[in-house]
Amino acid sequence: IKADYDGLSNWAAEHVIESIKKAAPTKERPFVLGLPTGGTPIGMYQALVKACKEGRVSFKNVVTFNMDEYVGLPVEHPESYHSFMYRNLFDHIDCPKENVHILNGNAEDWEAECRQYEEAIKAAGGIDLFIGGVGVDGHLAFNEPGSSLTSRTRRMPLTHDTRVVNSRFFDNDFEKVPRFSLTVGVGTVMDARQVMVLINGHGKAGALRDAVEGPVTQMRTVSALQMHEDAIIVCDEAATDEL
Ligand code: GLP
Repeated sequence: IKADYDGLSNWAAEHVIESIKKAAPTKERPFVLGLPTGGTPIGMYQALVKACKEGRVSFKNVVTFNMDEYVGLPVEHPESYHSFMYRNLFDHIDCPKENVHILNGNAEDWEAECRQYEEAIKAAGGIDLFIGGVGVDGHLAFNEPGSSLTSRTRRMPLTHDTRVVNSRFFDNDFEKVPRFSLTVGVGTVMDARQVMVLINGHGKAGALRDAVEGPVTQMRTVSALQMHEDAIIVCDEAATDEL
């Protein structure tokens, strides 16, 4: 628990930096990161960009897999998770483009796309550190309430509530928010060797309570992390209001 958002962001960034350094990755044995989008991780990304520019960390031998992507948004749309990731991270660090994996939300055969994503994660040696945010309703990636806790990468409809919450990025018009996403499953996240979830602000206090004090339930998919051997939640004081 950190006092505020800056404290949360810096702690998370330092944890990423230390984890990469400790692994001393090589081209043959890269460090594999799972990465989130949303407002919450932006401060962590800024800290990582700064550290990379200062030469405190290199992403040359880091392979990344993003958690999710909207279905049907053109890649160049400013709110696609592709655009988000390049704008906030990849354009500013030394991670080779071929090391970056983001689900293609425009794939014609989305089942094949999801299957190949799982295979690519396996081929990279599995995910060392999966970083996530959480939705107000306790969703992890786009694993909305009702998702199986053993789910794998697949297409998921977004709930009405999530579309309303995310409409702030789409001119406050929830009709503009895509109806579907491709997302890693809860099982995919659970397979990572370590998971770190960032939870910020009073608006997420219910989600944090559900994550750590509620029952393990597919109605709050982040609660699955109670069953993970090595899960870290990094939050600010405001998010602890309901603990
Ligand atoms: C979206 C993403 C989630 C993210 C959530 C919270 O729904 N698919 O992965 O955790 O938003 O976003 P924010 O950090 O902006 O609250």
